[in-house]
Amino acid sequence: MTASESRYQACLDARAREGLRRSLAAVAARDARIIGAEGRSYINFSSNDYLGLRFHQALIGRAIEWAETYGVGAGASRLVTGNLDLFAPIEAKVAHLKKKPASLVMASGFQTNAAVLQALLDRNVLGAEPLVFADRLNHASMHFGCQAAGVRQLRYRHCDVSHLGELLSQYQGDDRPRFILTESVFSMDGDIAPLAAIARLAREHEACLIVDDAHATGILGEGGSGLSGEADIVIGTFSKALGGFGGYVAATETVRDYLVNRCGGVIYSTALPPPVLGAIDAALDLVPFMDAERAHVANLAERFRAGASAIGLNTGASTTQIVPIVLGAPEAALAMSGRLRQAGLWVTSIRPPTVPPGTARLRVAFTAAHQVTDIDRLLDALSTEHAPRRVRAM
Ligand SMILES: Cc1ncc(COP(=O)(O)O)c(C=O)c1O
Repeated sequence: MTASESRYQACLDARAREGLRRSLAAVAARDARIIGAEGRSYINFSSNDYLGLRFHQALIGRAIEWAETYGVGAGASRLVTGNLDLFAPIEAKVAHLKKKPASLVMASGFQTNAAVLQALLDRNVLGAEPLVFADRLNHASMHFGCQAAGVRQLRYRHCDVSHLGELLSQYQGDDRPRFILTESVFSMDGDIAPLAAIARLAREHEACLIVDDAHATGILGEGGSGLSGEADIVIGTFSKALGGFGGYVAATETVRDYLVNRCGGVIYSTALPPPVLGAIDAALDLVPFMDAERAHVANLAERFRAGASAIGLNTGASTTQIVPIVLGAPEAALAMSGRLRQAGLWVTSIRPPTVPPGTARLRVAFTAAHQVTDIDRLLDALSTEHAPRRVRAM
């Protein structure tokens, strides 16, 4: 073992001691509701495929058709010869969905945040290190983007508009460019940022508001357009409610053009492959017409939240299709996840550093493919899990 490897091993050992070591579980999925592992089937409550689109025949059909017609790879980055004529109509659809003049499709949502923020926050272009006000619970990919740009984030308390206001006021006399970064729906909490109030502050303080709409697009907002309407720049992904893969940014033509020229994730990465683009294209056609599915998912989540709080579980401030059950210690979350697994229910535990220390949880996510009986089964299993513990505590 090399010296560096023994350090890596020590890091793994420390993680294991703290109940934080992770491993990859091999799973088989044949539909949006059931997942298979080690010869057993489970109801999957840990997928971001909120509309069940990844198995939709329209997406599969167009992916196959575009693979057969255009090949399975783009062959080059978009600035070389990978900018297939498939991109422009898709980008027009994304811009229309997000009500912005333009959009740019790139690789994953992670890469979009990491690469786009790096480019947008570039101090050499902006003339000074920008002031970046960021929600404390923003997704890791946003931090990567800020780190890559070398900016220090001014982090405000989660969804706390007064704290954001105070921070903005503190820097009132500072004429550096300002940005506010937030998610719309927070991925691990399922709560919604107070976007109207944040947008008001952004206008008052002449800050550019960048919203990651990953967990709202497709599933929330009018016609599934998400919640980012007041943002100057929207970042998102096709890998959640849209069922496929890929990321995008929606903004003005100037921002798009700037990113084509300055964003490493666009310039130095092969364009998305045609079958992936086919699935995106078909999802964008379907999403505006999926109100019934959106209502079904909202009802399932509401039923679950009501049932979970009735048995004394802490579902935080969730109001969306993502419902956490906050348990505290990583071991508690792991153990609860393991016991649900024995009952045929797949609910992955989420531990630090993905969530703050002391807030390890189960993250329950609902999809249009779930049935009411699935929710009741999960609640039954949780109440048998949870009830004895409450009795013991008394
Ligand atoms: C808020 C948020 N932004 C970005 C991403 C990354 O998107 P993708 O999975 O497409 O890389 C995620 C996914 O975990 C997310 O939750």
